[in-house]
Amino acid sequence: MRPAWSYRLNADFEDHAEHEYAILVTEHPEWEDEPFVSQFTADYGEYASLADVFRQIGHDERVHKRESEAQLGRPRFH
Ligand SMILES: [Fe+2]
Repeated sequence: MRPAWSYRLNADFEDHAEHEYAILVTEHPEWEDEPFVSQFTADYGEYASLADVFRQIGHDERVHKRESEAQLGRPRFH
């Protein structure tokens, strides 16, 4: 088994997700004026608009990608 392949594949999935969220936001300009109201605000945070929520989710995917890429260079056992 090559764990690096798994981390690389996961990083690629995260990268794809980030770009899909970015496209989604551009396809819905009306979300810029749509307030984000949710019972999960305490968990997910407050955002000025629904567009900001999806931008944040896209950013989270980038962080996940970087975490996977960081694992690529690490030894398998510590
Ligand atoms: Fe993710």
